Amino acid sequence: MNLRSTLAAFTLPMLACTLAHAETPTEKDARMQWFNEARFGMFIHWGVYSEAAGNFKGKPVPGAGEWLQSGGKIPAAEYREELLPKFNPVKYDPEAWVIAAKNAGMKYIVITSKHHDGFCLWDSKLTDWDVGSSPYKKDLLKPLADACAKHGIKFCLYHSIMDWSHPDWGTKMPWRGSAANPNPDMDRFTTYLKGQLEEIVTTYHPGILWFDGEWEAAWTHERGVDLYDYLRKLDPALIINNRVDKGRKGMEGHTTDAKFKGDYGTPEQQIPATGFGEGVSWESCMTMNGTWGFKTNDTKWKSTEVLVRNLIDIASKGGNYLLNVGPTGEGEIPAASLERLAAMGEWMKVNGESIHGTTASLFPKVSWDGRSTTRKLPDGNTRVYLHVFKRPEGGKLTVNGLVNRPVSASILGKGAPLEVSGKEGDWSVQLPEAPLDPIATVVTLSFKDKPTIKP
Ligand code: GLC
Repeated sequence: MNLRSTLAAFTLPMLACTLAHAETPTEKDARMQWFNEARFGMFIHWGVYSEAAGNFKGKPVPGAGEWLQSGGKIPAAEYREELLPKFNPVKYDPEAWVIAAKNAGMKYIVITSKHHDGFCLWDSKLTDWDVGSSPYKKDLLKPLADACAKHGIKFCLYHSIMDWSHPDWGTKMPWRGSAANPNPDMDRFTTYLKGQLEEIVTTYHPGILWFDGEWEAAWTHERGVDLYDYLRKLDPALIINNRVDKGRKGMEGHTTDAKFKGDYGTPEQQIPATGFGEGVSWESCMTMNGTWGFKTNDTKWKSTEVLVRNLIDIASKGGNYLLNVGPTGEGEIPAASLERLAAMGEWMKVNGESIHGTTASLFPKVSWDGRSTTRKLPDGNTRVYLHVFKRPEGGKLTVNGLVNRPVSASILGKGAPLEVSGKEGDWSVQLPEAPLDPIATVVTLSFKDKPTIKP
């Protein structure tokens, strides 16, 4: 054997072994752990469309704020010419954003590094269609990533695959003007996409890459698989949503066929009727008002009650809630969003224990107006949280289906023990007269080991 074949004999099998090593379920659980415990995150849609706020050259444009270019059928050059000189977010205070998220009980932030219009919030080496060419000039991602690190929030990035600004994006859309190349080259586009992703992965080390815009025919399953593998090699700890590939079932967002890549499901603007079973991660992304990107006339704000109950509903089904804010072109999160975040934070301060790090409800259906989550304690015992939306008649909360008698019961944030009566499969907890939380009062039941549920 000469040196060359000796080397080949040793290194080739080693290489094959590293490449072929499929992640074990335990390894995947470890990689997904922070995500599965987080339960609540902030989505941020921000770009030059935020400055336009739903209008172009003085005319309102129908549709979502961040879809402005498509809604107004605006050629890429005109879109750039009109909006780039105006994008100057001088009021941007990334630390204030992170603190608002943290105080609301959020554990991660996902911001749009690039949305469908292709505009980049960092100064990319591969394009000048970015913040570096705007009057603001400075990188918008780095200070947010730094503030996240400072406050213990995971920094994550949304990155659109579809790109209306790129001549090689393989869908024509004639309104794109000169950006709609008659012969788009998707290989060249993918090289651009990967190059940009390498920039942001190695510079900002995002916890998640949140893809989108994968539904167009130009993006194929093969490209999805290749991109997923490429990124996991760049950063093995990275979490990648299922929109990297073609397996998502529309807005339900769930992937069932294992051949498709993606670490978690992405229901959009909806909460699934039930979860997807143990070991399946998912996240419902939802707006606080009507659209994702800032729009002056979008005042369809959800109430704090709806937002908190959405969070509870999602947690009770074993998912995460990714709640959107759309900052203005100047760089401010709208006051209506901040108020709601602060109010959610008030509830979370007392009741966050029933959300963070919990798993789905043990009950197939609860016997009260509300929801439930579960926590396995390190000593093997279990805590069951009952979210009560409405005080039951006489304050008597009936808990059907639980075989074991709870060792104790109390309300989160109030120490006093509650009286439990009844029998196996039919317990009642007596709630106090004192005013309950109008959004949701959380009753904690403690169990030795794991309680059994009768169907
Ligand atoms: C979409 C939209 C979009 C938004 C997103 C959030 O599919 O195209 O504008 O960014 O979903 O989930």
